[in-house]
Amino acid sequence: MGKAQSMINGFIMCEALEMRKIKIFDTTLRDGEQSPGCTMTMEDKLKIAKKLEALNVDVIEAGFPIASPGDFQAVSEVAKEIKGPVIAGLARCTKEDIDACWKAIQHAKNPRIHIFLATSPIHMQYKLKKTPGEVIEDAVAFTKYAANYCRDVEFSPEDASRTKPEFLYEIVEKVIAAGATTVNIPDTVGYSIPSEFGRIIKGIKDNVPNVNNAAISVHCHNDLGLAVANSIAAIENGADQVECTINGIGERAGNASLEEVVMAIETRKKHLDVCTGIVPNHIYPISRLVSTSTGMIVQRNKAIVGDNAFAHEAGIHQHGVLSHPLAYEIMNPEKIGRESVLVIGKHSGKHAIGATLKKMCYELTDEHLTKITELVKAHADKRKIVDEEDLRIMANHVTHKENGSSETIKIDKITVLTGNNITPTATVKFSMEGKEKIITSIGNGPIDAIANAFVSVVPDMKIADFEVRSVGTGSNATAQVLIKFMDNNKKLFSIASCNDDTLMASANAFAKGANRILSSRNGV
Ligand code: KIV
Ligand code: ZN
Repeated sequence: MGKAQSMINGFIMCEALEMRKIKIFDTTLRDGEQSPGCTMTMEDKLKIAKKLEALNVDVIEAGFPIASPGDFQAVSEVAKEIKGPVIAGLARCTKEDIDACWKAIQHAKNPRIHIFLATSPIHMQYKLKKTPGEVIEDAVAFTKYAANYCRDVEFSPEDASRTKPEFLYEIVEKVIAAGATTVNIPDTVGYSIPSEFGRIIKGIKDNVPNVNNAAISVHCHNDLGLAVANSIAAIENGADQVECTINGIGERAGNASLEEVVMAIETRKKHLDVCTGIVPNHIYPISRLVSTSTGMIVQRNKAIVGDNAFAHEAGIHQHGVLSHPLAYEIMNPEKIGRESVLVIGKHSGKHAIGATLKKMCYELTDEHLTKITELVKAHADKRKIVDEEDLRIMANHVTHKENGSSETIKIDKITVLTGNNITPTATVKFSMEGKEKIITSIGNGPIDAIANAFVSVVPDMKIADFEVRSVGTGSNATAQVLIKFMDNNKKLFSIASCNDDTLMASANAFAKGANRILSSRNGV
């Protein structure tokens, strides 16, 4: 516990708070990579390691070097490149594993060998086929073997939470005496509950005579959804280090999520009387990076980093947040590198709609806002989310601007024929500058046929991108069509349109795009 005033990126660091510092050991690149369906390239791992360094984690577990040549190479690259945090490699209690681990991490500025050996009756009997005495012997021998290479050795009694307490105390004492500088207590199968796991840590603190010669770490899996709660209970009972992963990825249901552990400590530090050295404004960017690198999508309602974590839907909540963010936000989203979002939908009131449109640079009268709010409610009543583009269209409609263009083309009727044995054909009846026109076009598909009908009357209409999204679920979901057009000055502009019918949503978007092109052609 130091007193130095230290700041990183404007954040007061742990030392200045005079609180016990909890070390954050990130195992995204090792246990995280063991998530089913998750693989990372060497480049991904290096990028993530650099971000973890910026996040200021204390330890990066870079991989399991003996597992594969790729793992070995990734651990050595991380060890060479990353200078801030300790770089750990994992090894079983064998000479080959520890040799490979040391070889991979030896160039790190601060290397750590992390060895593990199972200590629960079920693992010892059926997996290791060793007696408790043999397990203690190996644990001590290989701790010494690792300590000959490296001053920083971590020992994990695997499946510690299902290990008999007296046996756990004995092995912890003996590995510390053999040179372990950190002893990590894993809830390997995510079986513990917080009060029980807290008691395990307290038991070790109270019953291991040399416990103060090593740091006590915890490593909780999330099989019962309790990994973060168990880690916090361990901290309350004296744990010094928490092992966790970005987005909580890891074996089976994953590990304790770094962002949740860190923000629980940050938000409740007065209650817990501990802090971390994490620079929180990197949390959201690294969560995105890990999600895209691994292909593991973050669930929308995931705490801290999910899409909905700072999204306010209820009108009362939106008004509350606008009046004072702390009314409904227990932490400032900007602190972790994101911002709060007012979800515009049927629950939104004038305050939220006005605030969102203000951000979009609209200056609106109260009368405009009342009309736009009515439009939003009517639109959203069909379970639709109103996004910025919808809001823009509504605001333009109400203020009679429609993006500065007048409606030269107005759709009257559309008929589309398609099937497996016919060329998709669209017949569009519309009025253009007051004159009625009927165009029939064919295309690769029905949407292409509609597009061609508009292109035949506005030949300079260039479609740069076309996307259809489903708003809602099921075959009756609303279609949202987003089209990027290029105008005559080669500038891109976007049009969005929603309809229960995908073809009508497309036709309306093409008509709006055509009108915009016509008005830019006329210099409007
Ligand atoms: O879950 C576990 O027990 C582990 C150990 C290797 C620490 O990942
Ligand atoms: Zn694990």
